[in-house]
Amino acid sequence: MKGDNLFGLKLNREIFLQFSRLIREKSGVFFDLSKMYFLETRLKRRMWERGISDFISYYDLLKTDYSDREFKELLNEITIHETSFFRIRSQFQTFSDFVLPELIKAKVDSKNPYLSFLSAGCSTGEEAYSIAISVLEKIKFPSMSMDFNVLGIDISIDTIEKARAGLYGENNVSSLSEDVLVRYFERVDGNYKIKDFIKNRVLFKYANIYSDMDMSGIGGFDVVFCRYVLIYFDDSSKRKALANLKKVLNPGGYLFVAPSESYNVPDSF
Ligand SMILES: C[S@@+](CC[C@H](N)C(=O)[O-])C[C@H]1O[C@@H](n2cnc3c(N)ncnc32)[C@H](O)[C@@H]1O
Repeated sequence: MKGDNLFGLKLNREIFLQFSRLIREKSGVFFDLSKMYFLETRLKRRMWERGISDFISYYDLLKTDYSDREFKELLNEITIHETSFFRIRSQFQTFSDFVLPELIKAKVDSKNPYLSFLSAGCSTGEEAYSIAISVLEKIKFPSMSMDFNVLGIDISIDTIEKARAGLYGENNVSSLSEDVLVRYFERVDGNYKIKDFIKNRVLFKYANIYSDMDMSGIGGFDVVFCRYVLIYFDDSSKRKALANLKKVLNPGGYLFVAPSESYNVPDSF
């Protein structure tokens, strides 16, 4: 069968650069030459699935598939999804102690008691649910007088499905206190499932922060978390993604990036 004889196939520099350019153009994610072997193995996995036995045919498929279906499958393979609940505790502390009280007060004063949060590059959902738990810890009883929602977006379809399921193993929740586990999770077959009252406030969907079209479909966020996403972008892609994030953030809103990414954030923030 086509695709069976991929074993000895090697990506050369020229074809690697073609793929790298295409991936950057469509997603912002940048592969330099040090990632050649990584990309080669991931491309071969997809080629095997599709029964394709040479890189150029696979490249042509990506270029001509206007639905981007195969490109999304490839993105599942090449994106890094590492995440955890309350990743970088100090940021969540700042979010709870400083950002949330200020926002809640401003919303109450303006008689617009609704808060909206974005987890951009949400991976399997831990960040979005950590935001929701932090907010629930503050406002205790969401109601007409103060309510909120969280949107998680990602370009990896597999992770979005996992995020929607909200089902986590023992290892994923090991950093959470017993208190938090009891309040926000139920036990399902030895795993931990996010309870429905949180899930109802957290939505997940496919969207690419690098795409003007995807980002024009969302907006009005009081706080955007976009952490450990921009590190995979080159400088010009970072600028474009940050400009898109600025557009979806309410005036006076907050952006959280990972500590190593902060030097990329322009003064306009
Ligand atoms: C390393 S994870 C970080 C998850 C979470 N933000 C955190 O800090 O724990 C990076 C996520 O960003 C997603 N991603 C990469 N490029 C993206 C893009 N252009 N638009 C949206 N999500 C993207 C990846 O699929 C991956 O799930």
